[in-house]
Amino acid sequence: MKKKIIFVDDDPKELKNLQKMVSCMSGEWEIHFAAEAGEALEFLRKDSSFDVLVAGIGAVKAFNGEFMNCIRDRCPLTIRILISNRSDQTTTLKSAIPAHQYLLKPVNLELLKSSIARACAMRGLLEDKLLMDAISRMESLPSLPSLYAEVVSEVNSPNCSLKKVGEIISKDLAMSAKILQLANSAFFGHPQAVTSISGAILFLGLETIKALILSVKIFSLFNCSKALESSIGKLWNHSIATGMMARTIATQNDMDQGKIDEAFMAGLLHDVGKLVLWDRIPHKYQEIDAMEKSSGCPLWEAEQRILGTSHAQVGAYLMGLWGLSESMVDAIAFHHIPSKSPNQGFGTLTIVHLANSLEHGKNDADSDKRLDREYLEKLGFKPWMD
Ligand SMILES: [Fe+2]
Ligand SMILES: [Fe+2]
Repeated sequence: MKKKIIFVDDDPKELKNLQKMVSCMSGEWEIHFAAEAGEALEFLRKDSSFDVLVAGIGAVKAFNGEFMNCIRDRCPLTIRILISNRSDQTTTLKSAIPAHQYLLKPVNLELLKSSIARACAMRGLLEDKLLMDAISRMESLPSLPSLYAEVVSEVNSPNCSLKKVGEIISKDLAMSAKILQLANSAFFGHPQAVTSISGAILFLGLETIKALILSVKIFSLFNCSKALESSIGKLWNHSIATGMMARTIATQNDMDQGKIDEAFMAGLLHDVGKLVLWDRIPHKYQEIDAMEKSSGCPLWEAEQRILGTSHAQVGAYLMGLWGLSESMVDAIAFHHIPSKSPNQGFGTLTIVHLANSLEHGKNDADSDKRLDREYLEKLGFKPWMD
């Protein structure tokens, strides 16, 4: 089926350029154009089945900067892509944060095609429309209050150091995911994938980081029930330990620095879907927790039985929408059962699967059961026989 895409730009010259550029895609896309934000909203009011909205920055600033919010509220499942220029990043980001992906002008067809294809591919991961709706609305993930306070105090300090900010952000799943989303967006014009927080922070620069945290308020606070408090502490410890274990495995396998950084980040973020579920459907999570305890099945199986999906797919869905690299999204999506992934070679997914299982093994005598033996045997591993 053709992807249904609407382009909106209130600059007639820019809209004409877009029309010219995408005209060759009419075989694969059903393409619509709107000359201003109000017209695009009208299109979506009549028909909410658009897969993607691509908006120029002029349109995004319409309705007092609320245009993307209006789209999010009216058609949350429509993927929101912003095309902007380099000027005035902070104001632009403020009105554009509700976008899923950001591209920098001039945009070429290849970049546009790959951004649209990657975001749309995420749709196959989830079937539950209500859950997809809830996740598509997310602009940030909740951070640990202590780390949030620490980062705000550091950027407010007259002696603020980029290194210290990076260290704090690296300890928080939510802040790490958001910073990677921004650093990897073509909006900031980085030519290669950014896979480490230190690299992302260095690239964005202290002033942009300060503005993003203090004015744009890209991070948000955890507001969880008492019942989840101990789970949150465990998740943070497990995620950091898995990231560090993944970094060690990647280093021992002589991977290059980019891949080592990616292994750490994918390990850190592999369970990010739990955060999404705790934030979006906390009431269901208590039921899932109870089933895990009473039946002794892994948490992801309890999620699957109750929700029809697991935190792995949910996390991958959001990270994919946010434009994180395909190998990171793959590692998050299939970290419990890597044999289900379309990518069967040794890579970030293998490392995260091993690191997650080994990390659980520290407290769990049955950790072998977590290993996907069929997958690992095909790759020549037999870790359970050592
Ligand atoms: Fe998991
Ligand atoms: Fe895990």
